Amino acid sequence: MKQEVMAMHVRGASQFVDDMPTPAGCLHAVLYTSPIARGRIRSLDITQAQAAPGVVAVYTHKDVPGLNQVGHIFKDQPLLAIDAVEYIGQPIALVVAESNRAAHRAAKLVHAEFEKLDAVFDPREAAARGMLHGKKRVLVNGDPDAAFARCAHVVQGKLGSGPQEHFYFETQRALACPGEHDTMKVYASAQAPGAFHHHLAEVLGIPQSKVELDIRRLGGGFGGKESTAVWIVAPAMAAFLLKRPCKLVLERNEDIATTGKRHAYQYDYKLGVDSEGRILAYDVTLYQHAGACADISPAVLGRSFLHASGSYRIPNIRITGMSCRTNIPPNNAFRGFGVPQGTFAIEAALTRAAEVAGIDVAVVKRRNLLQAGDTLPYGMKLDWTNAIRCWDTLDTQVDLAARRQAVTDYNRTHTDTQRGLAVVPVCFGISFAQTALNQASSLVHIYVDGSVSVSTGAVEMGQGVNTKLQIIAARTLGIPEDFVRVDSTNTSRIPNASPTSASTGADLNGMATRQACEDLLGRLKPFAAQHLRHPTADDVTIRGGVVFLGDQPTDLHWEALVKAAQWARVDLGAHAFYATPNLHYDLETERGRPFAYYSYGTSITEVQLDVLRGTYAMLAFDVVHDIGRSLTEAVDRGQIEGGVIQGMGWATLEQIHYAPDGRVLTGVNAYKIPDIKFVPPHFGVALLPDSDNPFAVYNSKAVGEPPFVHGLGAYFAVLDALRAVRTDRPLPDLPVTPERAFLYLHGPDLPT
Ligand code: MTE
Ligand code: MOS
Repeated sequence: MKQEVMAMHVRGASQFVDDMPTPAGCLHAVLYTSPIARGRIRSLDITQAQAAPGVVAVYTHKDVPGLNQVGHIFKDQPLLAIDAVEYIGQPIALVVAESNRAAHRAAKLVHAEFEKLDAVFDPREAAARGMLHGKKRVLVNGDPDAAFARCAHVVQGKLGSGPQEHFYFETQRALACPGEHDTMKVYASAQAPGAFHHHLAEVLGIPQSKVELDIRRLGGGFGGKESTAVWIVAPAMAAFLLKRPCKLVLERNEDIATTGKRHAYQYDYKLGVDSEGRILAYDVTLYQHAGACADISPAVLGRSFLHASGSYRIPNIRITGMSCRTNIPPNNAFRGFGVPQGTFAIEAALTRAAEVAGIDVAVVKRRNLLQAGDTLPYGMKLDWTNAIRCWDTLDTQVDLAARRQAVTDYNRTHTDTQRGLAVVPVCFGISFAQTALNQASSLVHIYVDGSVSVSTGAVEMGQGVNTKLQIIAARTLGIPEDFVRVDSTNTSRIPNASPTSASTGADLNGMATRQACEDLLGRLKPFAAQHLRHPTADDVTIRGGVVFLGDQPTDLHWEALVKAAQWARVDLGAHAFYATPNLHYDLETERGRPFAYYSYGTSITEVQLDVLRGTYAMLAFDVVHDIGRSLTEAVDRGQIEGGVIQGMGWATLEQIHYAPDGRVLTGVNAYKIPDIKFVPPHFGVALLPDSDNPFAVYNSKAVGEPPFVHGLGAYFAVLDALRAVRTDRPLPDLPVTPERAFLYLHGPDLPT
């Protein structure tokens, strides 16, 4: 089955939403969106669009049958604008036509007049004006102000990290098919079956029991399909009102221009260390560039906030976080969910502190790494951690000091090029920080021919969650993997599912699946004992599809067992539920236990910089990453490689340019993502050996997002090479593009 899935992908045989045969009479929907960043709508004229060839309907907010609202955390996002717009790309009208081309043409004929209002594009400015989503969060532990007075060295400054385009290969899309009695079936490219199911019903004004959302797979999600339901709800609304199937597929540049991205952040940091580089105090303010609606931004900010201390022990800390309301499309989740942004600030501050203290930054980092018994800023005590074990395993493998020496030697003997390296430790909390979301259910059917179907709320988006679920079911039942098929994610089979995000997909749905399979075994084993005339079920196991009594195989095979059990009226279907135990968090005191466990790793990145041009090349990357006992190494290694490279892209190459009026200037032709030539020629991935994790299924660990954070090494390695040339400049913002590197080297003085 696994082989089959890969072969299907490679041959292009896997079906995505737009590959499904178009149903007869299918309509096509296109959104007319705001051309200005902020203003009041003075008038809206849809008559010309309505009269255009092929057009069936043009809808505005007045036509929404139910609630005109798709806000994810707060109800602050109308599906179609009412009398004001807050960002370029905000949907105003929905044009429905017989063809996609006709719909696009007609959308250009919608005319709106606006009274333009001042827009805000800078998160610091928004914060100064009190334009926030939710409350400002402040967490204090120890006494940072008193501790700064005791420090041998204190560094402080301002810094920024940039946005990132998801660039999922499959853009946002959905196909909605109306059924009898006002029912609606929607096929979508979406990460949040439960939440989007709810939005669909709410906007259509019908009970959720009449809506069926089906998700087979995504051509990538990366967080960008987790919270904004606009492109799924809009075609469903047209299908509902017109009683005809309707499809909406965003074009690439439409997707880039109007959907949310990774949040850019601004930081104020102040870090104090003793004479040996031990961190005594850290004070950081996170200004999150959230966009016009809250979307999922406060949750992303929360994760940056809880990861502000990175992999380090910080006895005195003040973390301040603000989700700043600005006039760009609402930003949303992106692999790492705020952790890369929170980690960047502490890594940068510590790099500066090491420079000032005159100690190798890797030595400083190692000295401050989390140890068993340490307490995180939010009061969670770590009974054990693999932070040091990952670091030291990497050190044994690559000899960090020797690598530093080699770079120093190279730099001494070269002038046109300089090399740089960075060692980056990662500590990533696993669980949804919102405790309620840590739940999942699984539905497992055994058919009379012995084949097994598994349904969960997990969404397959390339991360291999279905492969993992298949392995878990087969392993628990004791049968070969090709007996098991993982079915689509469907709200009629699995209700109220949490989104597949926060890297918890395999953990939560895997636990539920294992439980459902154990429930089935609880019925099959006694039946097998009875069938074999054996006195007790305690001796029965199933291994490789054969029933064993003790260590002896019997001649009863899985298929025969299942067939006999069905005939004897044994229930062969099971539903099980899992909720991660012992999680809690108090937002008032900013204390709690938000994560079940942590994922760790340490990486080293080495680059070579062209000192004249500012261009650079990745030379080598090595990582030791902790993924517990891997369920499938091929998938997990793929997740590590993909995550790291995507992280390197964010840290160095990927830059979104905005015009002064807020328009995104970087379309598909101007946005650089890493390609195979960008990848370091040496790319070593080692899995931390002997790592048990009692908090996830079969001792595995989440792997989807944490490796992304190692991508920061690319920024810090380029920075290291830049610092080898000159240190009289402030740190460049992330990404350190070749242009920024050039300006750092040769540009006019940059303001601090
Ligand atoms: N890998 C691929 N190929 N495509 C994706 O869209 N999304 C990432 C990660 N890996 C993604 C991916 C993100 S953002 C998350 S949260 C996890 O996968 C989700 O899957 P999991 O919870 O099953 O690990
Ligand atoms: Mo991942 S950003 O949590 O979908």
